[in-house]
Amino acid sequence: MTTAIIGTGGLGSVIARQLASGGETLRLSSADHESARTLAAQIGRAAVVAAGNRDALQGAGAVVLALRFTVLKGVIDEIAGPLADKLVVVPSNPVSADAHGNVSRVLPEGQSSGKVVAGWLPAGARLAMAFGTLPADLLESSGNRSPEPTVLFYVTGDDRAGEEVERLIRTAGFEPVKAGELEQSGRLEVGGDLHDLVVGPAEARSLIGAA
Ligand SMILES: NC(=O)c1ccc[n+]([C@@H]2O[C@H](COP(=O)([O-])OP(=O)(O)OC[C@H]3O[C@@H](n4cnc5c(N)ncnc54)[C@H](OP(=O)(O)O)[C@@H]3O)[C@@H](O)[C@H]2O)c1
Repeated sequence: MTTAIIGTGGLGSVIARQLASGGETLRLSSADHESARTLAAQIGRAAVVAAGNRDALQGAGAVVLALRFTVLKGVIDEIAGPLADKLVVVPSNPVSADAHGNVSRVLPEGQSSGKVVAGWLPAGARLAMAFGTLPADLLESSGNRSPEPTVLFYVTGDDRAGEEVERLIRTAGFEPVKAGELEQSGRLEVGGDLHDLVVGPAEARSLIGAA
């Protein structure tokens, strides 16, 4: 199946490599066309570079928006029409960093990033917040573990989106575990109790139940 990846920076490039390893066909797009081109060349036949963000969605059933939270709304507005019948996967943490690297939340405390992003999407788009719980290097090194796979937590309010994102998580080499509805996206973010955890399925389910 075909997935678009918009944003081929630190995280998007890892997600792209993992999905391609699992057999997904990719359409890549980034503000930096050269970074998308380099990544496509590394991946080989499974990846093509799209002419732009809208073009990346051509023929794709899902899109991963591997973008900083502060640019997310602008890109969603740019590609809104074609998003209407797609799974939209958002790994973005609602944070920004100052010149000294100090990270702060860009949404008011307690406001769910999942609910905010859902409000930006057109009717018919199916949102799952996923793939943003681990730093890119840890994500890269934690895929396809055996005998116990690493869990990637996700949240969604849409059953079909849940099935679709679970397929993508498995394709990338992880075991999916739903952490709740979009209101619970804070659990996945920087500072959330499920962020930065490399755990297997049993421990993941006990963490979900413990909340
Ligand atoms: N990196 C991690 O370890 C990590 C872990 C968990 C979650 N996340 C989340 O993942 C998101 C991406 O993080 P990142 O570290 O991958 O950031 P990044 O390295 O800055 O990558 C973002 C990519 O988005 C591209 N971009 C910016 N504006 C765009 C536009 N209008 N259209 C298309 N592409 C555009 C950038 O291109 P240019 O470089 O040309 O601007 C860049 O390739 C963030 O929200 C972050 O919270 C990251």
